[in-house]
Amino acid sequence: MKRRKGIILAGGHGSRLRPMTGVLSKQVLPVYDKPMIYYPLSTLMLAGLSEVLVISSPEHLPLLRNILEGLGPIGVNFEFREQINPRGIAEALIIGEAYLDGSPSALILGDNIFFGHGFRNILNEAGKKTNGATVFTYPVNDPSRYGVLELDKKNQILNIVEKPDSFLSNLAVTGLYFYDGKAAGFAKRLLPSKRGELEITDLNKAYLEQKKLSYLNFGRGFAWLDAGTPDSLLDAANFVSTVERRQGFKIAAPEEISLENGWITIDQLLALPNVQMENDYANYLKSLGH
Ligand code: TTP
Repeated sequence: MKRRKGIILAGGHGSRLRPMTGVLSKQVLPVYDKPMIYYPLSTLMLAGLSEVLVISSPEHLPLLRNILEGLGPIGVNFEFREQINPRGIAEALIIGEAYLDGSPSALILGDNIFFGHGFRNILNEAGKKTNGATVFTYPVNDPSRYGVLELDKKNQILNIVEKPDSFLSNLAVTGLYFYDGKAAGFAKRLLPSKRGELEITDLNKAYLEQKKLSYLNFGRGFAWLDAGTPDSLLDAANFVSTVERRQGFKIAAPEEISLENGWITIDQLLALPNVQMENDYANYLKSLGH
């Protein structure tokens, strides 16, 4: 059985964040005390994935590479590939086909932030499934803005509906997807939607048609944020700041997760670039040694 590999899709237009994203990628913008891309990276690391492909536009990929390689040796092997135009989320599986080489994968969108108790357990559960795909749902107040799962009476998936006009359920499909080794093959058979994109919903529906799509729900007490608009970016920053300052733990510090995963020792952590500073982030990492 091949090991699961991670993909962070971190391109896109970022049009809702203009003019902030005129020059910069959305994924390098700060979410309180660290660049946005640390958050999806941390999710993949919590899932135990140490091989990660980062996909972004040709102009933004070098910046993201600088940020991620700037973490130093944290036990994650990064690869980088360009997405020439943002032609849809499902294209990530096609761009990543050679990289995956038939391995199962976990795809996460570069602006998705997950945080909550029991997260590792949920990721572990999804990781065990070697045949089929898993989506992760989150109950939301305004389901008409999202891709939504429609369930039957036995809570089995009937359909996934993009931005439903009428109420089907409050279960939004989040930007994290676990696939078996067949995802690239399915993605290559997709046709572009009316908006000209290879839709991730269509890829998930291909699994559903084969009765190979399952879901895991993040319940109460869990946070799923995307940072795609000025307000949601500010909300995400305020959320991270509130939790971090109250509890004294950092959300999504990749160095800390690497230590917890046993990928680096405390001495190796103390030698990492982000620790060689006199600031709050560095001091936090230093404190892990006490
Ligand atoms: P979106 O939020 O759907 O799009 P966007 O980032 O281009 O922003 P906007 O709608 O404001 O123009 O994308 C979700 C994430 O997926 C985001 O991190 C960008 C990424 N993405 C790609 O990298 N390539 C793509 O082709 C698409 C559609 C999204």
